[in-house]
Amino acid sequence: MKDNFEHKAKEWDSKSIRVQNALTIAEAIKSRVKLTPDMHLMDFGVGTGLLGFEVLKDVKSMVGVDTSKGMLEKLQDKNSDTLQIKPICQDIIENPLRDKFDGIISSMTLHHIESLTKFFTTIKNHLNNNGFIAIADLESEDGTFHSDNTGVFHFGFDKDELCKIVKDCGFKDVEFNNISIIKKPQRDFGIFLLTARV
Ligand SMILES: C[S@@+](CC[C@H](N)C(=O)[O-])C[C@H]1O[C@@H](n2cnc3c(N)ncnc32)[C@H](O)[C@@H]1O
Repeated sequence: MKDNFEHKAKEWDSKSIRVQNALTIAEAIKSRVKLTPDMHLMDFGVGTGLLGFEVLKDVKSMVGVDTSKGMLEKLQDKNSDTLQIKPICQDIIENPLRDKFDGIISSMTLHHIESLTKFFTTIKNHLNNNGFIAIADLESEDGTFHSDNTGVFHFGFDKDELCKIVKDCGFKDVEFNNISIIKKPQRDFGIFLLTARV
């Protein structure tokens, strides 16, 4: 399995812009989705757990799926007696899990996924009845967000195109909200939160 994030894992949490972005996304999720203490969630593309640990505080358990061993090792270091994410290093689009979830969250990972139809079909199959998705990523951009576009399959997303794909994959109550802006020297980049249910 190719690991484009291996070399980034060590320094991932040292960028305050990333940490702040994950906290903003967690707040946006909490204000739009009713999280309850009995919920079992998945963070898809969990990385070092910047989003996952924040959301885990409001639910029962969290599985963190990622294809980068390096990122998951950093996540493991942050697991404590009180807050633990179960790391799974697997491409679940190719090899689905047996487990089902009450919700699937994700931050800044969708643009790394080549086939959106395969992705949304896969995550739908991992959800319990009435389960939710809450996925944050970049609005359409000009390809300058990353300094190196290796492993980037989408330069952000167009709201209408993305909503259509999600609906066509069988989701309902599809909502798209602009939740924040990441300011970089070259320009500003909008971040959206997509929520839906099965
Ligand atoms: C930009 S990072 C975001 C990490 C974390 N969600 C955050 O906000 O800090 C994207 C993550 O997605 C993971 N990833 C890329 N393709 C993946 C796939 N097919 N399945 C699971 N994880 C994937 C990468 O290894 C990386 O950890």
